[in-house]
Amino acid sequence: MLHCNQTCGECPSCNGYDPMGCENQRIWGYETPYGSFAQFTLAQSQQLMPKAPAMTWEESASYALDLCTAYRMLIDRAKLRPGENVLVWGGAGGLGTFACQLARMIGAIPVAVVSSPDKAEMARKFGAVGTINRKDFPNLAYTPNETPERKKARLDAAKAFGKAFMTAAGTSRGPDVVFEHPGQETFPTSVFVANRLGRIVICAATTGFDLNFDVRHLWMRQKTIVGSHFAHAEECWRANELVLNGTIKPCMTAVYPYAEIPRAHDDMMHNRHMGKLSCLVSAARTGQKTLSEIV
Ligand SMILES: NC(=O)c1ccc[n+]([C@@H]2O[C@H](COP(=O)([O-])OP(=O)(O)OC[C@H]3O[C@@H](n4cnc5c(N)ncnc54)[C@H](OP(=O)(O)O)[C@@H]3O)[C@@H](O)[C@H]2O)c1
Repeated sequence: MLHCNQTCGECPSCNGYDPMGCENQRIWGYETPYGSFAQFTLAQSQQLMPKAPAMTWEESASYALDLCTAYRMLIDRAKLRPGENVLVWGGAGGLGTFACQLARMIGAIPVAVVSSPDKAEMARKFGAVGTINRKDFPNLAYTPNETPERKKARLDAAKAFGKAFMTAAGTSRGPDVVFEHPGQETFPTSVFVANRLGRIVICAATTGFDLNFDVRHLWMRQKTIVGSHFAHAEECWRANELVLNGTIKPCMTAVYPYAEIPRAHDDMMHNRHMGKLSCLVSAARTGQKTLSEIV
């Protein structure tokens, strides 16, 4: 199976501290034209990783992108430590289910933000110690050009949200690490609720790229914003090892045949999905595990 990071393999970054510093670093299938949903693809040999023999192809294909991203975000970039509290946005989503599992694995305390009781149950199943339903905070989302009244309502909601985090975590402290990816709508709350010296680690901005937040909440309490993008080969191998040895479980919830790939995208766009989705490309049926079955 493949991880999706490509680098030049030749430069000092690739051969030194961190290949993610390579000027030619690209995410395969996202920043390269040789991507997914194709019968054949062009990959680098360093992208190949062992597949769990007992796992189906579709389940094996489902986890690397989000697991390895969450691994780098929490372990190597935010340097999450045992006993720390973590706020995980989208806790029943692809990134979120892995973030909760990784946090639990190292003895941290993940609280998942979700938008329905079903998703709360899913997040708990994958390690969240508590959940917050963001629908209980209708004024929480940031929207551009807000009026002073709207801003005050949002700040009040953020304070209540911070208290809900403590209740869900079972502590009197807020998050030491915030696992960010929704972006514009949630980022001001993430900065606001993080503890003193807290880290907000971010890999995406699904709701909008222009982030607006009160920087006093950052500097006065000495918080850090950390950018993160996928993971390098060694992080991917370490993360994959956790699947191979059964520590981390993939969270695939649906498999779509080739003809229904648009439906998979539609479900994702409308946030009807949970965990990870897989699509069959060349395989005629689900449940196959070896090369001889599909050749
Ligand atoms: N940079 C990288 O290397 C990298 C790698 C992987 C993914 N990503 C990006 O990260 C993002 C998330 O990926 P994913 O695989 O976890 O997606 P996903 O499975 O669709 O999960 C995203 C979650 O975000 C939550 N969400 C949706 N709208 C929200 C809103 N307005 N406010 C707060 N939460 C909201 C949803 O949970 P609830 O509705 O339950 O709250 C959903 O479960 C995507 O933009 C993806 O492209 C980046």
